[in-house]
Amino acid sequence: MNTDTSSLHLEKVVPEAEDFLPLLGTDYVELYVGNAKQAAHYYMSAWGFQPLAYRGLETGSKDSVSYVLAQDKIRLILTSPLKPGGPINRHIEQHGDGVKVIALWVDDATKSWKETTSRGAESCMEPTTLQDEHGKVVLSGICTYGETQHIFVERGAYNGTFMPGFKPWNPPLKSTSVGLKFVDHMVGNVGWNEMNKWVEFYAHVMGFAQLVSFDDKDISTDYTALMSKVMSNGNGRIKFPINEPAEGRKKSQIEEYIEFYNGAGVQHIAVATDNIVETVTALKERGVEFLYVPETYYDTVLDRVGKIDEDLAPLKELGILIDRDDEGYLLQLFTKPVLDRPTMFFEIIQRKGAKSFGKGNFKALFEAIEREQELRGTL
Ligand code: FE2
Repeated sequence: MNTDTSSLHLEKVVPEAEDFLPLLGTDYVELYVGNAKQAAHYYMSAWGFQPLAYRGLETGSKDSVSYVLAQDKIRLILTSPLKPGGPINRHIEQHGDGVKVIALWVDDATKSWKETTSRGAESCMEPTTLQDEHGKVVLSGICTYGETQHIFVERGAYNGTFMPGFKPWNPPLKSTSVGLKFVDHMVGNVGWNEMNKWVEFYAHVMGFAQLVSFDDKDISTDYTALMSKVMSNGNGRIKFPINEPAEGRKKSQIEEYIEFYNGAGVQHIAVATDNIVETVTALKERGVEFLYVPETYYDTVLDRVGKIDEDLAPLKELGILIDRDDEGYLLQLFTKPVLDRPTMFFEIIQRKGAKSFGKGNFKALFEAIEREQELRGTL
């Protein structure tokens, strides 16, 4: 397996002073789902999210209902339609449950919109000010791959629970955190030969730079092949790997995703923890299902990654994967798809210096995914 990480570098570092789109972090991730009330229960009981805010009939929202959940810096919004025939219904019919919005926290949503639309981004929301007794939030938005959107959120003048239109939400279910801290990266799957188009979009329209590059020979098995490039914003807080399928002997997992999602969309959300053993133990106790690599993975892993701080035994028992680059190592584990369609999944990641994405694990991982695809009859 190729573990050469000499290609790890920012191809073009954007000095913050010249960054035309300074991003403070991921503000929230919104999923359109068939039944937001029950999805909220799942993310609370299984994933340890806390209830934060609600918008629905009781707050004057006649067409849709949204639940906002939080765990440390991660905010999820789960939204369902209340009436037939609207854009949310159509999105769910096309894609099943999935990520609609990757919201980005900015100081100035109007400037963010102008800078990106003037560079060719298609607008999905003109700058819009929402106000209530706690202050104001300004939103604007642009389209990205598939039907996914980036909403810019300016909340410097707001001190309410979430944003105008929502009220605090205190359901009877009490959940306890599993130690998830923040969104580390979010990966998009795009169609055949579309990766470079979206790499160019993030570079030109949003001022991102390419972080890591590897070719399909690095990450192919007998069956699955893909190509991937990682785009990062200037301060590195936002990282978007973009995958496209590559020719393999049988159907690539990216093709399977594109088929079931009916187009490009978010493949996985990687969430960071400070203690992956505790986090994964808690998630497994609550019924979250993970991909497994063969036990033989652990026979040679330390030869590949060298010395690590953790005992290998609990990592092996939980199936946690290890990889190293020239800045350190990382521990990671991937769930099975969390939706009915074999589309989106989560990654749990603990970084111990490494800034890469686990390339050394891809082969073992793809073989695990292929075992699942074989069960689904989609290879
Ligand atoms: Fe990832």
